[in-house]
Amino acid sequence: MPTCLITATNRGIGFELARAALERGWTVFGSVRSGEAARETANKLGTGYEPLIFDVRDRKALADAAAALSASLDLLINNAGIIGPSRQTPTDMDFDGFAETLSVNTLAPLAVSQAFLPHLRSSGMAKILTISSQMAWMGYRKSDTLAYRASKAAVNKVMQGLATALEQEGIPVALIDPGWVQTDMGGPAADTPPADVADGVMKIAETLTLSGTGRFFKWTGEERPF
Ligand SMILES: NC(=O)c1ccc[n+]([C@@H]2O[C@H](COP(=O)([O-])OP(=O)(O)OC[C@H]3O[C@@H](n4cnc5c(N)ncnc54)[C@H](OP(=O)(O)O)[C@@H]3O)[C@@H](O)[C@H]2O)c1
Repeated sequence: MPTCLITATNRGIGFELARAALERGWTVFGSVRSGEAARETANKLGTGYEPLIFDVRDRKALADAAAALSASLDLLINNAGIIGPSRQTPTDMDFDGFAETLSVNTLAPLAVSQAFLPHLRSSGMAKILTISSQMAWMGYRKSDTLAYRASKAAVNKVMQGLATALEQEGIPVALIDPGWVQTDMGGPAADTPPADVADGVMKIAETLTLSGTGRFFKWTGEERPF
């Protein structure tokens, strides 16, 4: 049975990713941030789901969670993310909020990847996906939501570097644009239910090879520009 780690599985896209993976026969280790969220999520998702409790910004908690995990991992999906502070324009920036946004959306996906790299290496067939955003696209000259846009553009660059570093080891690393999704972050007016996006992402996860490493894919599977 293949085994994956998905961050932020208590709600939104991450919860649906966990459900989609379980339906496809994966064993799912899913991160949450509290014991209560672990119990609630485990109750909803049932057999095959194992909660791991850590905040993705907490390197010590990541190291502890990795040390406690004996299974190898065939897939890591970096999904945890935040939209950032209420003030995040080029002329009115909450810089502490900007730093927090970078910490969760940019630094943490690399920290989680590094913490669980031994488990991914021992799989012999591992892959890494990171949920980015169309808002990272360098072709946009927009000024709203700048901390979030910058954090996702930066994680694209970080993961492109990780893809290059892990290519020789046969571990593909790719980025996903999930579109605009009906979650707490995306809101109810968004285009797509998270279950549809999760299905699409799991299809990409199952078919990704080294030929796709370092690339950016829409949730529907088409490659898209950075
Ligand atoms: N929804 C969209 O339209 C959309 C579009 C493009 C990209 N995305 C990306 O898709 C991913 C999932 O978004 P979503 O729409 O599902 O968002 P969401 O509904 O707001 O859920 C966010 C998830 O991230 C977790 N999280 C936040 N900060 C964390 C931290 N420091 N450590 C661990 N977990 C943390 C939350 O946990 P708590 O419940 O504990 O806060 C929650 O499980 C994000 O990377 C987001 O940027 C979403």
